Amino acid sequence: MQNFRVLGIETSCDETGVAIYDREKGLLAERLYSQIDEHAKYGGVVPELASRDHIRKLIPLIRELGDAHKIDGVAYTSGPGLAGALLAGASVARGLAYGWGVPALGVHHMEGHLLAPLLAGEQVEFPFIALLVSGGHTQLVDVEALGKYRLLGESVDDAVGEAFDKTAKLLGLSYPGGPEVAKLATQGNGDRFGFPRPMVNRPGLDFSFSGLKTFVRTLVEKQRDSNGELNKQLKADIAQGFEAAVVDTLTIKCKRALKETGRKALVVAGGVSANRSLRASLQSMDAHVQFPPMAYCTDNGAMIAHVGAYRLAAGQHDQAEFMARPRWPLTELTPPSG
Ligand code: KG4
Ligand code: ZN
Repeated sequence: MQNFRVLGIETSCDETGVAIYDREKGLLAERLYSQIDEHAKYGGVVPELASRDHIRKLIPLIRELGDAHKIDGVAYTSGPGLAGALLAGASVARGLAYGWGVPALGVHHMEGHLLAPLLAGEQVEFPFIALLVSGGHTQLVDVEALGKYRLLGESVDDAVGEAFDKTAKLLGLSYPGGPEVAKLATQGNGDRFGFPRPMVNRPGLDFSFSGLKTFVRTLVEKQRDSNGELNKQLKADIAQGFEAAVVDTLTIKCKRALKETGRKALVVAGGVSANRSLRASLQSMDAHVQFPPMAYCTDNGAMIAHVGAYRLAAGQHDQAEFMARPRWPLTELTPPSG
């Protein structure tokens, strides 16, 4: 294996992540700056503020990685994500690569997530099914090899992380809502509400989560007291009912995907893969199930440096013309040698 040391830069949304990954030694250094406090007061990510904050933080964070590393290439997230935020990372990455005389490569954010279980030093054997669950994506993908992806199903409306965030907002919880809903759910019992399991009785592997969000909205409106408040136990019960419906739905579709394809292994990645109920439910399936380490479920620079190292070491690098692809289907990727 040819050694290769890569600086990775992630700026697709509201986390500024930088890291250095060495193919022989693994992760050498990393920094992560979350803009959450900046966006929380608006209840969601404000794209213009995100771009400005990435520009402000990138160079100081890269400096903090230390200057003792000889870098062989620079990888950055070139999509999917917020256009301005992507351009901030792409510009810095390509400027540094040019200045250092090394190649730059724009990588796919979801491929970064997909291979994040390898960051813990775990082996991941191809082929497998990937369940990608983040704030922007809910996808089941058949992964034959690195860069060989076939989309099996996806959400026809809200992504699952987005549904968590919207449910949190309806319950008066702070942004990002996923971890807040999950925390509250541990104290609740949502059985009495009869939350639906969307699309499980239809054939196919697509998902729909906007109905669950509407179910929560209707419940919240019905259950408010005369002061317009929801009591704490009721909120916990709704959170638990919602989470259980999401977890059941995802589990049913994962089982179906494994059965239909005959694959024996499942890799789960993206921000929602940090959810403990989801982990427990998927782990009880009759399959080999792998997750990223908790710290690498949500956005980070390490996963970008890591996937960049594979592809740059294989000789892949950017041509001069493009830098950011806000919309980018994972299935357009090809193996690094292709
Ligand atoms: O992958 P990620 O960091 O960013 C995107 O690429 O979108 O995922 C962020 C999403 C948010 O919607 C957040 O609420 C959700 O992941 N999330 C969770 C948990 N931790 C993060 N959802 C449910 N349970 C969690 N523990
Ligand atoms: Zn992500």
